[in-house]
Amino acid sequence: MKLKIVKDNKPSLRKKSIPVDLPLSSEDIELLYSMNEYLKLSQDEEYAKKHNMRAGVGLAAPQVGVNKRMFVVYVNDDENVYNYILVNPTIIETSSKLCALRNGEGCLSVDKEYDGLVHRHYKIKIKAFNLLTNKEEIISACGFVAIVLQHEYDHLDGILFYDRIDKFNPLKEKGNEILL
Ligand code: NI
Repeated sequence: MKLKIVKDNKPSLRKKSIPVDLPLSSEDIELLYSMNEYLKLSQDEEYAKKHNMRAGVGLAAPQVGVNKRMFVVYVNDDENVYNYILVNPTIIETSSKLCALRNGEGCLSVDKEYDGLVHRHYKIKIKAFNLLTNKEEIISACGFVAIVLQHEYDHLDGILFYDRIDKFNPLKEKGNEILL
């Protein structure tokens, strides 16, 4: 399935997505695997260059024009691969400890670069149906992976990362956050 990334000038990206019917339809399954494949390919330097793709670590259904509560995460940090295909996620636990990426976040739907700290919970627990294991799971994550999960979760509510940057002082630190 050929995917087209919806950019942030499209109103649909700002809509709240609707819950997904379970068991998943074959259309939803096909879409989710295509999204997963897209992320993997986007991280293959040669392939990405040839197809003019930006490397991504997460992709939410609204970003491919489907306003349903599901997203995919693929993070490969050389030691571990964190791959999730999540449907109807809910964040059930968050740490009071915050973190942010020193160099800011990016998004496949946002072509412009936005400098600024996006504060996220350092640790989270998410309950969701994971297509990769075909069951409902509780996923614990911290640091970078937790940031990616929260970024994708935001897409389901029509929130973009730059909404969370302090407009008056983008690089303002809170003092107790972990900068990654
Ligand atoms: Ni994004």
